[in-house]
Amino acid sequence: MNALRHQVYAVVEGGRLGYPLGRLFDAALITLVIANVAAIVLGTLPDLAPAWRQAFDALEIVAVVVFTIEYGLRIWVAVEDGRRRFHHPLWGRLRWMATPLALVDLATVLPFYLSHLIVFDPTMAGLVRMLRLVKLLRYMSAFDTIATVIYMERRPLIAGASILAAVLVVISTLAYFAERGVQPDKFGSIPDAMWWGLVTLSTVGYGDLTPVTPLGRIIGGIATVLGVASFALPAGILASGFAEQMKQRNFVANWNLVARVPLFNRLAAPKIAAIVAELRLEIAEAGQVIVRKGGPADRMYFIATGEVEVEIEADRPPVVLRQGDFFGEMALIEGGTRRATVAARTRAELLVLEAAAFQRLREDNPELDDAIRKVVVERMAENRVAAAARQA
Ligand code: CMP
Repeated sequence: MNALRHQVYAVVEGGRLGYPLGRLFDAALITLVIANVAAIVLGTLPDLAPAWRQAFDALEIVAVVVFTIEYGLRIWVAVEDGRRRFHHPLWGRLRWMATPLALVDLATVLPFYLSHLIVFDPTMAGLVRMLRLVKLLRYMSAFDTIATVIYMERRPLIAGASILAAVLVVISTLAYFAERGVQPDKFGSIPDAMWWGLVTLSTVGYGDLTPVTPLGRIIGGIATVLGVASFALPAGILASGFAEQMKQRNFVANWNLVARVPLFNRLAAPKIAAIVAELRLEIAEAGQVIVRKGGPADRMYFIATGEVEVEIEADRPPVVLRQGDFFGEMALIEGGTRRATVAARTRAELLVLEAAAFQRLREDNPELDDAIRKVVVERMAENRVAAAARQA
């Protein structure tokens, strides 16, 4: 039973861990959510053909059934999560059910069943069904990033919002005093003036309320300028926070890839960190030429995943290099141009090290330099032997 539960876990939660069946499950679920939401949207068209309406209703039933089974499976396999707090057969599952994504899963199906017991306002029912879109959050790693950015930058963001609130109150109060005599119907109270203030500060400017007195217009002008400044502030904070977060994520991703290159295993963590910061990830599609014989020696490559083939001479079978191997080092160490053409045999994730960074790396890590040089010597000897055999 436990083995079965583990397998189901690999399917239900395994997509992000890279299990193929898990990916398939995710793809099917995402498709269903999108189709279901599209049906809800189109279902609001007043003159929809009855056939379509029937199809949409059928889809609704399918969706509810699938989402219910999915929810049940997720509860069942929650204990496989590996984290301690989900371990207990009862409390672990209850804790899982209280997580935000689990609550969303529940909220997407529960109204359907409740609607048989109590009568829902149709607008409400439509809104609740739209919640199914939120299910997609599980598959959006970008959303995680945004949430993290907002959390990390919460202090400047709160400061920005406070400034905006203060400016809004001051501007609206001034406009109220300037305009209330002339337009008592529009600027009759500070809350009324605040609606104008918000629309003006956000530079949306609906124009439903506009100051007409000279003083009111001056205040309006100032509000527009201040609005641009105070709205630009949070946008800037979020943008730079986002960039910073992406850099850190790339760093972690590259770190994981570097761990696949045995050459680096002998180094201590701080040294690996220094190298990771210098490496750039590049994807080569199958068949793509990465390095051309006779080309310039500007960088070297480590293979994190995939395979490449090295064609040294046209009439010699290519040498295949795999995950953990490196290439493009010869021209950097021995000088001159590239000794061979290297092309991707499969899609490959390559970690690229520019020539200058490579020289720094060699100076800082003599043992690494030795290891790479040893490989160069072996490869040169191999090529010499092959060349001699061809001439003989
Ligand atoms: P470089 O000459 O800079 O560019 C081509 C690369 O092919 C070369 O560095 C090596 O990394 C690689 N290469 C050349 N000969 C061999 C070989 N015999 N076995 C494996 N790789 C090789």
